[in-house]
Amino acid sequence: MSFYGEHVLPRVTEWILDRPKIEELRRETARGLHGDVVEIGFGSGLNLPVLPPEVRRVHAVDPDRTGPRLAAERLAHSPVRVDFVGLDGRQIPLDAASMDGALSTFTMCSIPELDRALAEVHRVLKPGARLHFLEHGLSDDPELARWQRRVTPFYSPFAGGCRFDVPIAEAIARAGFELEELDARQRRGPKLGAFLYQGIARKP
Ligand SMILES: C[S@@+](CC[C@H](N)C(=O)[O-])C[C@H]1O[C@@H](n2cnc3c(N)ncnc32)[C@H](O)[C@@H]1O
Repeated sequence: MSFYGEHVLPRVTEWILDRPKIEELRRETARGLHGDVVEIGFGSGLNLPVLPPEVRRVHAVDPDRTGPRLAAERLAHSPVRVDFVGLDGRQIPLDAASMDGALSTFTMCSIPELDRALAEVHRVLKPGARLHFLEHGLSDDPELARWQRRVTPFYSPFAGGCRFDVPIAEAIARAGFELEELDARQRRGPKLGAFLYQGIARKP
């Protein structure tokens, strides 16, 4: 991985995403998680402080080697044990139907072949378990969506593969989840990346 990808990008990402407003949304998103939770795109562990006490263990999946270093303090203060189990959401080294829940925040935009990763999350969840998500993605405003599609090819190579134009809810439903809760709307912030999908999807 390049110096930029390994050292600069994770720090810039953390700086952008470590905001009180976003932490509130993270807290809402994580509500109800319990037991063993697989988190795809663990990053620098910004979700650790908002996990409910019922979460027993986080099984973290992320290719980024800098994230766990940036997370050191949060890991040290977290009552939740974190196991770094894998590097790619498209191939999660966990048994089928072994997880009580899954968490993904601001990650689905960066995973190439998102369908494969969501199929993996679906596989490792127990029947009835839920995926909690908070993601930015494709807007429901056709004009903004056009801009998201136009800008993505230029922006993505500098942003770790992040895309503005991923239809998050559609992808989750396609993987076989039932969308139980979904709040998809434009929030405050830079327009192209502020159409947020927040919700809970259940594996039937
Ligand atoms: C924008 S960051 C978000 C980090 C964290 N989830 C958060 O909310 O702060 C996107 C994360 O997705 C991770 N990622 C990229 N490709 C991935 C993949 N194939 N599988 C799992 N995680 C991936 C990146 O390394 C990065 O940590």
